[in-house]
Amino acid sequence: MRQSRRVFQTSKANEHIVNQIDVNKVSDVAGAEILNINLSKPLPKFALEKIMKAFTQHHVLIFRQQNLSKIEQESFTRNFGEIEGHVGRLPNGQRLPNVHTVTNIDNLTGKPTAAPHTDGNYHWHTDKSYHAVPSLMTLLHAVDIPPEGGDTLFCNMHMAYDALPSEQQKKIANLRAVHSWEASRKNTGNIPATEKQRRERPPVSHPIVCTHPETGQKSLYIGMHTSHIEGIPEIEGKNLLDELLEAATTSKNIYRHKWQSGDLVLWDNRCLLHRGDKNFKMDKHRRILHRTVVKGMVPF
Ligand SMILES: [Fe+2]
Repeated sequence: MRQSRRVFQTSKANEHIVNQIDVNKVSDVAGAEILNINLSKPLPKFALEKIMKAFTQHHVLIFRQQNLSKIEQESFTRNFGEIEGHVGRLPNGQRLPNVHTVTNIDNLTGKPTAAPHTDGNYHWHTDKSYHAVPSLMTLLHAVDIPPEGGDTLFCNMHMAYDALPSEQQKKIANLRAVHSWEASRKNTGNIPATEKQRRERPPVSHPIVCTHPETGQKSLYIGMHTSHIEGIPEIEGKNLLDELLEAATTSKNIYRHKWQSGDLVLWDNRCLLHRGDKNFKMDKHRRILHRTVVKGMVPF
């Protein structure tokens, strides 16, 4: 197993809180609440170590009642590694900033909209699997959320792999799926990738069965960014990926996060798929979250 190379910030600023940090599991699938901690201040080393231990164990961490500026969120994110840039662009053509906004607010009207530009978020995926080096961790901070709904679902892909019949585990053991931004746009019915985006993000392949670098556990690494499987007929590969995804995303493998205002939720993209749920009135209620992503490592 690989050793973590993370360097933690150290400070006494949060020390009075840290001794009371509680980790409360919220489901058997994934997820734990971390209570009594203020993420707007630098954290001492042992607090970050406690957070990392909980992250490895529970895959999804929920910090309640946080009030973070974008700068504070960026600073907290840097505790876990290098911040990942984004292939997407703002309407004015500029790259998305390190802390970018996930929103259903229309740029022109300033009002909530159900326009399909964010549809990709509502399909099962693991962040940036179309990169040769995909995301380790994603953080979302709930700034403005609907009175109900707008949940985020997480699927435990260790459990999904473990539930497969052993013959199927053997069949897929050495297969590699092809992931691309172009396939992602196609699979979600989104605006096709531009020529420039295709050049910037050419297809990459990753093992379908990956090993978690911290725990050695195997998981399925698939989702909406995939198009086919290397070395087998395209339609056959696509069908196998669909079959695996359907089996994986059975309700018993899913944790549903119901957002509370101020939640900072972070998760492990190496062993989870996630998606948003449109279970709210998208054209009526605001849903605004601030997002940061930590660069990971080559899946193996
Ligand atoms: Fe995502």
